[in-house]
Amino acid sequence: MSYVRLDSDSISYVLDLSSGGIPRMAYWGSRLHDRAEPDQLAAMNNRPLFQAWLDEPYFLNIFPEQGTGFRGRPALSGEKDGQHWATLFKIEKIEQKNQSARIFLIDNLAGLKLVLDLEIDATSGILSRRTTIKNLTEPVYRLSYCAAGAIEIPSNCHELLTFHGCWTGEFLTQRYAFRPGLTQFENRTGRTSHEFFPGLIAGTKDFGENHGTVYGTHLGWSGNSVFFTELIPDGIRQIQMAELLMPGEIVLGKNDTYTSPWIYSGLSHKGLNGLSHKFHQFLRRKILPRTTQTSKRPIIFNSWEAVYFDHNLDDLCRMASKTADLGFERFVLDDGWFHNRNDDTQALGDWWTDQKKYPQGLQPLIEHVENCGMEFGLWIEPEMISPNSELYRKHPDWVLGLEGFPQLTGRQQLVLDLSRQDVMTYLFDRLNEILALHPISYLKWDMNRTLTMAGHKGCPAFHNQTKSLYDLIDRLREAHPHIEIESCASGGGRIDFEILKRTDRFWTSDSNDPFRRQQIQKGASIFFPPEITGSHIGPATCHTSGRITDITFRALTSFFSHFGAEFNLFELDDKEENILKTYISLHKQYRDIIHHGRSIRLELSDPLRNGLGVVSSDMKTALFCIVQMDIPTQTSARTICFSHLDPDSTYRLRLIRPVHHSIESKLVNPENWYSGFRLPGKTLMQTGISIFLPWPGTGVMFELKSINR
Ligand code: DGJ
Repeated sequence: MSYVRLDSDSISYVLDLSSGGIPRMAYWGSRLHDRAEPDQLAAMNNRPLFQAWLDEPYFLNIFPEQGTGFRGRPALSGEKDGQHWATLFKIEKIEQKNQSARIFLIDNLAGLKLVLDLEIDATSGILSRRTTIKNLTEPVYRLSYCAAGAIEIPSNCHELLTFHGCWTGEFLTQRYAFRPGLTQFENRTGRTSHEFFPGLIAGTKDFGENHGTVYGTHLGWSGNSVFFTELIPDGIRQIQMAELLMPGEIVLGKNDTYTSPWIYSGLSHKGLNGLSHKFHQFLRRKILPRTTQTSKRPIIFNSWEAVYFDHNLDDLCRMASKTADLGFERFVLDDGWFHNRNDDTQALGDWWTDQKKYPQGLQPLIEHVENCGMEFGLWIEPEMISPNSELYRKHPDWVLGLEGFPQLTGRQQLVLDLSRQDVMTYLFDRLNEILALHPISYLKWDMNRTLTMAGHKGCPAFHNQTKSLYDLIDRLREAHPHIEIESCASGGGRIDFEILKRTDRFWTSDSNDPFRRQQIQKGASIFFPPEITGSHIGPATCHTSGRITDITFRALTSFFSHFGAEFNLFELDDKEENILKTYISLHKQYRDIIHHGRSIRLELSDPLRNGLGVVSSDMKTALFCIVQMDIPTQTSARTICFSHLDPDSTYRLRLIRPVHHSIESKLVNPENWYSGFRLPGKTLMQTGISIFLPWPGTGVMFELKSINR
């Protein structure tokens, strides 16, 4: 028997090649012994014949095919003049290098070639896979579906966790059982979407933050996607993820190829925190642009909820001075700075400075910001065009659309057709000029409408639109390597590993409501580490929910992220201003561990609380935050057990000021809490401590420092 074996430090992945066709997974789990005989594992995995089915045993292979007798959903769908709708690929050759393998397969009858790429990350064990299909012969191959890969889930993993949402409600989770048949999710919005983040977790019964076996998978693609779970009546469970293709979108002529997005999968026997740790490690090491991996994340002030479109140079300079006094490090000028952009009904596409608001251009503001010791960032939304714009009046034909269909607007805007070379040249030139002219350190790259009738010369252009967006960002980054980019799409509508290869952080949500943000950030944290999760303190009365919240709660909620604020700072009273200043300096003090340590979600006995933390890689320092999401149902303190500390170390645990008066008034000897208690790591994790948080919308932050090593 022949095998391909890919090892990371902690995980092994073994493929069984014995069928001569598409391989099947023989093993995926904890790292095997170097001398382990994979055929022993294959024997363990050998399936008997199914009752009342074919006379041959069949398996789920890593790219299931119709031609093998597989009765679930195949990984490929297409046809050539009504023929070759089923395939049976045979291995041609395999190239293997350390942690990666490339498997070349051919179906001579169909005239198709398949290339399966697999790579395991040495540290995290995250497995990356993608598929390439090539048409070798006439006639054209009409491809309607090509999975990035199929993931086999063992039959003891019958619980699922999925991520759904909406604008201001991204990454909300749902938990349910693996259902018989197909459960399919489709995103047709032309961006990663608020609605169906392409990520899924399957796990053993009652898996939790620190227990259970979990398999997580994510499709790195910023356009349309389709993914499903399937429980076939014979008991086989699979997950597939792919780009969603429109009819006729991918037509492969002779020698044309299509390559799927990458699918990333990981497994952990230590629950969701174990899985998150692997995804975070992988993202930090392999996905994020190199600049981001090492840079210090400056604390951001963003002008959006402070002034909206009402830009006035003097006011903005005053705001910038105040911002700098409070300790912010980067001033981001949001929407409203360019030609005639006085509200959201107009001007997208006209990427030059508005002469009325900025008679001498942006330079005076930028100089002021720099003189205050801060960096300058700028908002843009390059893919869009307003029907009421100079650009549209000049080039109405530059719009993505389909003749004969109404041009539907969204936020009163249309989308530029990035499949056109002239559009790409225009956008590159405009942005390049702005970046060449000004010392800009950061772009907030927004995208505020979904794609609907995305046609180019009558053909579907969703795929090309996404590819062209990547090209545009890549070209700009190459020309301006120091620029950091935030991926924003009405908040968290474009968050995925592929956009993160070329951007440095994302705007997690347009909701600055800390209650909602707690939920959103908790969901997002399963895949994404804190340093790329943009989170800002908003105004006391939240602009998207109308809810009034306390500044300490807002600050605590944004603290474990890429921290910032966006509201009118002149509305703060002295006490609030002091609190904000304190959190800014605390963030500077702790951001190194927050942004480079191991982040953790706490499993708390009280469902009305949320708890998270970070532990430095040497386990000497940890920071934990517990917040109260609703009025407690009991009138005394509740226990908090910490996790991921060194059990053999003794820590000094102390409460970090400021502490809300409702909590402080219930502490016996508050000074002892502020100076700290000495407790063994084991005790902190097993027995825990107790604290009472009587008011919803409050929280506490603890520092833990190892004192014996
Ligand atoms: C949507 C973004 O999510 C907001 O933060 C803001 O930048 C607006 N667009 C500006 O139009």
